Amino acid sequence: MEITVVGTGYVGLVTGVCFAEVGYNVTCFDIDVNKIGRLAEGRCPIYEPGLEEMLQKNLAEGRLHFTSDSKAVCSKSDYIFITVGTPENEDGSANLEYLEAAVADIGANLCKDAVIVIKSTVPVGTNERIYKMLQDIIHCDVQVKVISNPEFLREGSGIRDTFHADRIVIGADDYEAGRAVARLYEPFERPVVQTDIRSAELIKYASNAFLATKISFINEIANLCEHTGANIEDVAKGMGMDQRIGSQFLKAGIGYGGSCFPKDTKALEKMTEDYGYDFKILRSVIEVNSRQKQQLFYKAKEMLGSLRGKRVAVLGSAFKPHTDDIREAPSIELIAQLIEEQADISVYDPAATEKVEELFGSRLYYAETVDAAIKGADIVFIMTEWPEITQYDLARFRLFMREPVIFDGRNCYSLVEAESAGLTYVSVGRMS
Ligand code: UGA
Repeated sequence: MEITVVGTGYVGLVTGVCFAEVGYNVTCFDIDVNKIGRLAEGRCPIYEPGLEEMLQKNLAEGRLHFTSDSKAVCSKSDYIFITVGTPENEDGSANLEYLEAAVADIGANLCKDAVIVIKSTVPVGTNERIYKMLQDIIHCDVQVKVISNPEFLREGSGIRDTFHADRIVIGADDYEAGRAVARLYEPFERPVVQTDIRSAELIKYASNAFLATKISFINEIANLCEHTGANIEDVAKGMGMDQRIGSQFLKAGIGYGGSCFPKDTKALEKMTEDYGYDFKILRSVIEVNSRQKQQLFYKAKEMLGSLRGKRVAVLGSAFKPHTDDIREAPSIELIAQLIEEQADISVYDPAATEKVEELFGSRLYYAETVDAAIKGADIVFIMTEWPEITQYDLARFRLFMREPVIFDGRNCYSLVEAESAGLTYVSVGRMS
């Protein structure tokens, strides 16, 4: 059995490495020759806990290969998983350029029967379109099937999520071809949901949009807590214990970021618009999130007036802990606002500093520790709940700052702790 994975981003690499780990012979393909060169040497281009070790192990054991030669992979693969990105177009729709290029390349080189499995997040109807596209391009006498198999892994816990997936979704109009893909997943022993192609495509968007809705909802409740004097953590706990609601994704904060929720909610909104339907809740979810991302900045302005010339430390820049990804991260918007205000800014992140530096260059001071970031600061903004930040000794804020004022977008500390450490502490949905 030969599996090829096209595209070596988060989803592609994790998928390829995990398939190799359970014993398949896997080739990961990418048009980026340099990246493939580094991967073939066992160097992982992304920060994903446990991935590099598993990659090196499977390379050494001969089950994992990397190539930029599409002809070679097309001549031997039984299953071709496509995991290329579908970024956001200017109008919010999903950009299918990379997917179409990958399909064109496969179609032009395919000379044996194969099952093409689309993992990329795509609007409803795309898999059918890809099938038609392949029928037009393929010139050899081969049978090709197109199966939708959306991915639900999270950055930062991709390997765990692959081995412990809540479900594997397979969308197939040809039932037997869908079953064959389901069988590939048997070593993972996870439940499979097999549907028609369009439903599978929609399950992906509906799942991400629903999780985003939970976050925007709890953020609205947090804002209401601030008006009413209730405490969001108690409210979320009391709600989450109802199993119909569930306790996950009820953590209020500074809004969702990353490469998925912002993009996928907008693409779903655009898709519904194209169908002439007005998805009201979804519009509000997006709007609430963009307002929430600005919350801490405006709280600081309201409390302190102008931030001009103030020494400000931003703790955490990644969109969530255990990743170096800063795409759509709330910290980036905040830093841009602080620059506009002419604040004097230092930033600390255990993994994402290099990426922040690429974006902001010499306009910021890049600290290597929390201590160094907060030294002499007037204000601290907490934007990512890294353990280095949540477990920080609060007494050190007093030690390194003149009059510590902390705006915590992730509710990292208890109100009692913050008060006994003598901090002026503003968090989300909790009144100190
Ligand atoms: C998300 C989904 O969780 C995955 O199932 C999906 O496969 C992936 O998108 C994708 O479409 O590729 P990811 O973006 O890696 O995964 O990260 P999440 O852990 O879902 O977090 C997203 C954002 O929501 C983060 O900014 C996080 O801080 C925020 N969040 C999450 C909250 O503000 N509160 C919560 O309770 C949970």
